[in-house]
Amino acid sequence: MQNNIQNNLISWYNHNHRQFPWRETTNPYYIWISEIMLQQTTTEAVIPYYKRFIQTFDTIDKLASASLEEVYKLWEGLGYYRRAKHIHETAQLICEKYDGQFPDTYEDILKLKGIGPYTAGAICSIAYGLSAPAIDGNVLRIISRLYALTENIALPKAQKNIFHIVNDLLIGYDASAFNQGLMDLGATICRPLNPQCEICPIAPFCKARQSGQQKVLPISIKN
Ligand code: ADE
Repeated sequence: MQNNIQNNLISWYNHNHRQFPWRETTNPYYIWISEIMLQQTTTEAVIPYYKRFIQTFDTIDKLASASLEEVYKLWEGLGYYRRAKHIHETAQLICEKYDGQFPDTYEDILKLKGIGPYTAGAICSIAYGLSAPAIDGNVLRIISRLYALTENIALPKAQKNIFHIVNDLLIGYDASAFNQGLMDLGATICRPLNPQCEICPIAPFCKARQSGQQKVLPISIKN
């Protein structure tokens, strides 16, 4: 196997990934619930809520037939309660419009309430293996360092550029492992402060590391 960014990252992910209950399934309904919970909440905090939620509502049908109060009850303490409302409404829409089957294209998934490009990309790649980027702050930071990009990552233009870079990197590779590899790399190694380049699986390809800029990149200026 050729040493390149993709293979190094995917192989590192496959051997070292963090264990989470939502990583024991590719059921799109469960992946959707986990990704919504993870939008504004840390992984540690999400774990017990995710487990309880999918135990109580193990199918989209059951979620759709529950009352909103029951759904809120399971969400209590997680915050951002609009997410719970969107999930409940969307479960009902999926029952009506998609015969209870979670949609399986990026376009249809992106149309669902509470789902933006990041969440659509995460669900498509993790549940269906589709080649779709999932760009968040972690990925903007990692890619800025990897290619020593000096554009301000708060700007849409810089974000679009990074989207295209990741889109190209993904072609022909395991998109689920690649995207989740970036998530784990950003959470554990390529941290905002003091990145652990010594143990980074893609350090040999990192332009920031080669030029000693890993601590000054990314450039992020918010107005
Ligand atoms: N943050 C958002 N999605 C995630 C996932 N699938 N695993 C870990 N952290 C995440």
